[in-house]
Amino acid sequence: MIRAIGLYIFFLYFYIEYWGKVKFNGFTVIYTFKGSSICLGEGILINSSFLSNLLGLYQRTIIVARYGGKITIGNNCGISGSTIYSMEEITIGNNVIIGGNCKIVDNDFHPLDCYKRNPQSINDIGKKKIIIGDGCFIGANSIVLKGTELGYNCVVGAGSVVCGKFPDNVIIAGNPAKVIKQNSQKDKTELL
Ligand SMILES: CC(C)(COP(=O)(O)OP(=O)(O)OC[C@H]1O[C@@H](n2cnc3c(N)ncnc32)[C@H](O)[C@@H]1OP(=O)(O)O)[C@@H](O)C(=O)NCCC(=O)NCCS
Repeated sequence: MIRAIGLYIFFLYFYIEYWGKVKFNGFTVIYTFKGSSICLGEGILINSSFLSNLLGLYQRTIIVARYGGKITIGNNCGISGSTIYSMEEITIGNNVIIGGNCKIVDNDFHPLDCYKRNPQSINDIGKKKIIIGDGCFIGANSIVLKGTELGYNCVVGAGSVVCGKFPDNVIIAGNPAKVIKQNSQKDKTELL
């Protein structure tokens, strides 16, 4: 009971603007460990409660950097019920929308070699940095995997599995995500 009251107070607390630059709708999990870092820009909206996005969120937003991971999120971004988990480096530009229930992970969580999984060493887990350019829009239920680089003004179709490098101003979709069309051409300075 006491725990429930504590969580409720925590929940209310996170409904208000935090640091004056990030607005939380619902209880959000954000944590980092020694040697890792999370840097949030200004004007960020993070949705975590079920109806804070009318898509309906399956999970709270989770932003975690550990084992030397580094997460940087630029200004005026929106994140809905998504996981951003770094053991290497995830850089998200300005004016990026991350739709409901997405996952952005720069590592595999477990070694690929079954004999190295139990116990597992951090050094045996595959990791590659992720870069998401300014003005990108990641459609709902997408997974962005290690090594992904999106140029600016890219759109990722709903439900995509994204891996690889993509240029500016493209719309990609599918599993694995491929370019399906060009987005309206924007000069990078227009997005800032
Ligand atoms: C990717 C998207 C932006 C494309 O929209 P569009 O430019 O209007 O393109 P169209 O609907 O004309 O589709 C173009 C082609 O891509 C395909 N396509 C569209 N979305 C796709 C997706 N998510 N996955 C796979 N293929 C997709 C279409 O089937 C069509 O194929 P065809 O040319 O062979 O017929 C849109 O479909 C989408 O996924 N929006 C994201 C919505 C969302 O998640 N919002 C966030 C909620 S929180």
